Amino acid sequence: MAHILRSGGAYLVFHFAARTLKPAAPALPHAPLMAERQVVSHILPLDSQPEEAIEQLLDAAFGPDRHGRTAYKIRDGMPWLPALSFAVVNADGALIGTLQSWPVALTQADGSQSPLIMVGPVAVDPAHQHGGHGRAMMDAVVAAARTLRTEPLMMIGDPEYYGRFWGFTDEGTSGWDAPGPFEKRRLLALPVDGGRVAGTGMLAPRIAVAA
Ligand SMILES: CC(C)(COP(=O)(O)OP(=O)(O)OC[C@H]1O[C@@H](n2cnc3c(N)ncnc32)[C@H](O)[C@@H]1OP(=O)(O)O)[C@@H](O)C(=O)NCCC(=O)NCCS
Repeated sequence: MAHILRSGGAYLVFHFAARTLKPAAPALPHAPLMAERQVVSHILPLDSQPEEAIEQLLDAAFGPDRHGRTAYKIRDGMPWLPALSFAVVNADGALIGTLQSWPVALTQADGSQSPLIMVGPVAVDPAHQHGGHGRAMMDAVVAAARTLRTEPLMMIGDPEYYGRFWGFTDEGTSGWDAPGPFEKRRLLALPVDGGRVAGTGMLAPRIAVAA
């Protein structure tokens, strides 16, 4: 069981062993619960980390064949957005989590684009999964997007995770298509201004159009 305490960019993950949660000995009925171990991790901007370490972590989480995925085609050729991309490093400074966000758009039949921010991949090193690190990075990107009043966030991901904690939903995405296979129920969006997404078209890299 992991409990997370946050303070600025640093957060503590307390791992409680099951045995420490058993009732205290009768002589000490009100003894405080003691965490078995405390792990200090930090959220940092992803551009503080070497590109090679990011790629290695993504290979470990998704496998080296990850580049053929539909999500990669949607944002093909785009650079990730430093203000909306985060890393988790552990107490030793090792990279254990990465989250990238990309400029994409819903492209209509007439070529016009409705801009969106694609979130993902979200990846935690397999040895550190289910410790609160994914949630910490997602909390950071949703908070940053709200502060910066960005375009709606979107992703291909599990609604059981991204819906449960942050309210991502497939509501309004049924008219969206993608340049590869995807499950409709996993095409999710989160408008950061409390509005709704809608529209029909193809998800694609965002093309800057000169005024
Ligand atoms: C998915 C991932 C980012 C989650 O991060 P994490 O640090 O391992 O998990 P967290 O500690 O933030 O979240 C834990 C909680 O979310 C739940 N959860 C985690 N991944 C889930 C998923 N894919 N679907 C449903 N629930 C999930 C856990 O069951 C747990 O719930 P609990 O607290 O009730 O026990 C991470 O496990 C990962 O990198 N997985 C492999 C790559 C991947 O699938 N990435 C997502 C697609 S972009």
